[in-house]
Amino acid sequence: MYNLGLFLSLFAASFTNNLPTNALYHRNTRLQHHVSTSAWNGELLAPSLDTPRFLPYFVPAGDRSIDDTSPSIEYSAHFRFQRNPAHVNATRHFAGVTGSTVRVCFFGNRVEWFGQSSPEHGIASVHLDGDLLAMVDAYSPEVLVQQRLFAAYDLSSTSHDLLVTVTGARNRLSTNSLIDVDAFVVQDVLDSIKARSEKPILSALEWSLVQLGSTGVAANANCYYKVEHNPLSISGHPAWASLYDLRTHSVRPLKLLNFGDVNGLQAVRMFNPCDDRQCDMMEQPGRIRLASPRWYNTVTRLDDGSVMIIGGSLKGGWMNNKTTNNPTIEFFPPKNIHGQNGLPIASQFLADTLNSNLFPIAFSLPDGRVFVAANRDAMIYDWRQNTEIRLPRIPNGVRVTYPMTGTGVLLPLSRSNGYTPEIMLCGGSTVDDSRAGYEISAQETASDQCSRLVLSKSGIEEGWKVETMPEPRIMPDAVTLPDGKILIVNGGRSGIAGYGNVKGKVGQSNAANPVFTPVLYDPSAPSGQRFSRQGMPTSSIARLYHSVATLTPNGTIMIAGSNPNLDRSNVEFGTEYRVEWLSPPYMSVHRPQYTGLPRAIEYGQTFSLQAQNIDKTTNIQVSLMDLGFVTHGVQMNARLVILESHISDDHQSIGVAAPPNAGIYPPGPAFLYLLVNGVPSPGQKVMVGKGSGPPVDQGAIDNTYSTTAIYTSSYP
Ligand SMILES: *[C@@H]1O[C@H](CO)[C@@H](O)[C@H](O)[C@H]1NC(C)=O
Ligand SMILES: *[C@@H]1O[C@H](CO)[C@@H](O)[C@H](O)[C@H]1NC(C)=O
Ligand SMILES: *[C@@H]1O[C@H](CO)[C@@H](O)[C@H](O)[C@H]1NC(C)=O
Repeated sequence: MYNLGLFLSLFAASFTNNLPTNALYHRNTRLQHHVSTSAWNGELLAPSLDTPRFLPYFVPAGDRSIDDTSPSIEYSAHFRFQRNPAHVNATRHFAGVTGSTVRVCFFGNRVEWFGQSSPEHGIASVHLDGDLLAMVDAYSPEVLVQQRLFAAYDLSSTSHDLLVTVTGARNRLSTNSLIDVDAFVVQDVLDSIKARSEKPILSALEWSLVQLGSTGVAANANCYYKVEHNPLSISGHPAWASLYDLRTHSVRPLKLLNFGDVNGLQAVRMFNPCDDRQCDMMEQPGRIRLASPRWYNTVTRLDDGSVMIIGGSLKGGWMNNKTTNNPTIEFFPPKNIHGQNGLPIASQFLADTLNSNLFPIAFSLPDGRVFVAANRDAMIYDWRQNTEIRLPRIPNGVRVTYPMTGTGVLLPLSRSNGYTPEIMLCGGSTVDDSRAGYEISAQETASDQCSRLVLSKSGIEEGWKVETMPEPRIMPDAVTLPDGKILIVNGGRSGIAGYGNVKGKVGQSNAANPVFTPVLYDPSAPSGQRFSRQGMPTSSIARLYHSVATLTPNGTIMIAGSNPNLDRSNVEFGTEYRVEWLSPPYMSVHRPQYTGLPRAIEYGQTFSLQAQNIDKTTNIQVSLMDLGFVTHGVQMNARLVILESHISDDHQSIGVAAPPNAGIYPPGPAFLYLLVNGVPSPGQKVMVGKGSGPPVDQGAIDNTYSTTAIYTSSYP
């Protein structure tokens, strides 16, 4: 199996049934139970933060709770009533007699049923409008109150009839067949959101956009989530991580510690993908953690396979400032370098880039150094020498990092460009980051600027080259496609990232005027002809704060999230669980296939692939991609390396050269796409390098863990 070090990260990769997707993850998991000053934009989460259990029962803004005592619920005989403060509104109804029914009628497009589960609970059938929708097993090994037993979303905006029947059946562990009703939560159509998105009609050779599936946890699909009342549950509380199965469009909740367990700001979470749907997150906070608290930091895999952890805040908040800043970097596993023996290394750049410098944009470069952009500035950091080389400031006062969130890409590397790295930064804001939140407006126009800088001596001398997107975007996502084009999607035309603290908010959203149409950028086209929206579908789903987009192994673009709220909400701009799949035109034509990819490819090695219908005139390209993992517009580790390739004289195979060295593709997993006349095959997974772990320095680990602690209130 692939080594953990490469997948590790504070976040994780996510995989399902052999079909790894890149890791989408989310760093917002950081509600701190023990920190008295925990803050989300200065606001505390719902009262449940302080309750011993974070219960699934929740009424999102815009929804209505129907208590079990409500006259609009009809019970058959045998249902009994009980008072107990543990239940919603201190009451519940329950029955164990086979055939007992409970019926609720509502007018709206979603419904959730809450009740108790326990060792005495059995199986109920659930019918909606006469159709059997589910068999719900309410058994749990311990007594759990206020559990979400069933939910149906995206119903038509009409009246519905939900019928729950006690079947008398129970699983073999259960001792009885009880079924509970504590409350139903419904969305009333009248104060509900807009019409649902229509599925566009698919047509060949066109882009298409389809909404299918739900992430189950707010915002970013495949992994981590904001600790809030997400519709998936695990261990009696709402889930804050899930795995999304790209084949079946189903989700599986994942267990995560760090909510009420330990301070998640120092968490390191590892996920080793598996084929059997059993794998879970690995967390051992007593053994594996960061030296210092970091909220909204960036993680970059280096050319030695370890990761560099960059910046962040010492506590949750909105805008970083001098008090909260953590202007340091550290490594995982810890390294004994620069006299720090595993402890954080000070970064003047991160001190100088306050205030808007969270989630720095970072890419490991072919020479092993690291490009970092934060706020209006950029640098190249040489982690081996501990030197920072400042780059020209981003033009026109544009800020690109949280909460002035833009996005960045490392443009494709290839031998034809001498593996010379070039960075492009898009979107963000020119809003002054020293202004207080209440002075900034959600209606202030975002930046429409993309800036490119070639990181060679002459490129740096020439400076940033500025281009203009068709519309401004705060919180865009830039997704590199196998053919080297860049899709820019998501975000709003105005405002800034975060929620709850600027003027003119929409609901709680600090940003407004969502951009619904993606734009494609061709970095190799002549200047002035690079942006195109031709044939691009338009969504009706706002993707603002906490939205993500990523390429999938098969070549579609997965778009998820948006949650500019303190907790789950159905008020505009509400919490969005729907996933959209954007298909470039290549998805609807015949796709090339190849075989023969080794399990691992070593630097400098050559290997051959077999593909059909290739001849001398065929135009081929072999794209090696790290799909990265994404949050807050930052596509961490994402890169495309175009490998040297040639068609054999007998046209039977394609000779391919692995990346020349680990600077060009840091050791770790990749997806390899064969493009035939511009159409990519589905990507296949391959390990680049030996697949062994990163260097481990036990002395640096011991020093880190003996001289630092899990800080619960203040950081020394
Ligand atoms: C809670 O129960 C009381 C009666 O005990 C009822 O009057 C009230 O409407 C209920 N509240 C809700 C939110 O259903
Ligand atoms: C710095 O940010 C924290 C967290 O948002 C906030 O509590 C504090 O007041 C800020 N300090 C200053 C000096 O603005
Ligand atoms: C991959 O895409 C092709 C269309 O190009 C589709 O037929 C196939 O079902 C997809 N596979 C998966 C696993 O999504």
